[in-house]
Amino acid sequence: MSDIVQFIRDLPKVELHLHIEGSLEPELMFALAQRNKIDIPFKSVEEVRAAYDFGNLQDFLDIYYQGMNVLRTEQDFYDLTWAYLTRVAGENVQHVEIFFDPQGHTGRGVAFETVLDGITRALDDGKKKLNVTSKLIMCFLRHLSEEDAMQTLAQALPYKDKILGVGLDSSEVGHPPSKFARVFEKARAEGFLLVAHAGEEGPPEYVWEAIDQLKIDRIDHGNRSLEDDILSERIVQDGMALTVCPLSNLKLCVVKDMQKHPLKKMLDLGIKATVNSDDPAYFGGYMNDNYIAVATALGLSKQDILTLARNSIEATFLDDAGKKRLFDNLEAYALKAA
Ligand code: HPA
Ligand code: ZN
Repeated sequence: MSDIVQFIRDLPKVELHLHIEGSLEPELMFALAQRNKIDIPFKSVEEVRAAYDFGNLQDFLDIYYQGMNVLRTEQDFYDLTWAYLTRVAGENVQHVEIFFDPQGHTGRGVAFETVLDGITRALDDGKKKLNVTSKLIMCFLRHLSEEDAMQTLAQALPYKDKILGVGLDSSEVGHPPSKFARVFEKARAEGFLLVAHAGEEGPPEYVWEAIDQLKIDRIDHGNRSLEDDILSERIVQDGMALTVCPLSNLKLCVVKDMQKHPLKKMLDLGIKATVNSDDPAYFGGYMNDNYIAVATALGLSKQDILTLARNSIEATFLDDAGKKRLFDNLEAYALKAA
């Protein structure tokens, strides 16, 4: 095994861009379909995996929303989240900030509380039993209306102790951040931290809107920011982090091949880029695989990889003590292994 692969596997890591519904592995999908007596249009795990061949974001989203249909009970959301946490704990991921899509569930009759209770019970167990700390971010589906997002925000208000931030995901092109400016203004006034997917498929203007109109604290993806030099400079000046997802970018054809991935360019520009898995069950890899794929393709050095890991810690929504704990672990590792 190459030195860099082992270095990545042993590296203490942080994940900042993970849709919990996108961690639904085909095996669990079948088990939940059986438990809940739901028909799914696949005969085998192999058939499910063969369907994961996407030409763009919407191809993926169609299958992603279909997949989440097996999630019905509080225990289902617990099992989903617990499976993700045990998996990443085994990859030395120490802290995660994960998304969930309540409208993907309330829209099919599953109560908001069922979703939230199952996820947060698993996150609590993750802290106690796996030593993985976490924060939870609720995303609005941007293909739905502003009013629907407002109602979802209202549902979250009693749970500020469990939901730290709000985000924006789903079909990007045609649904610019400005569509949700009032929702984000209200969320900010209520004390939620803010993130948004922008510049994955959408143009740099969407990233400008996310920064200036939504006043986000962190950009999810942000790849297309590099098409605009002034925007790139602004991102550097603001110290704004990008949660980059290399295998997702490859699977959704945001990049043509991994050698053309913009991650190294982002680092060279001084952008606070981070590595994340997005929807690992659908895109073929969790944290280690994402780091390894991009580091191998771009010839990243151990110092580059440490920069990425430091960026992730700086970009967390943890308080100073929480960040310090992670930095201490990382710097101890850097001294030993670099
Ligand atoms: N982009 C937009 N919406 C999403 C994604 C993504 O990568 N994953 C799950 N919802
Ligand atoms: Zn995403």
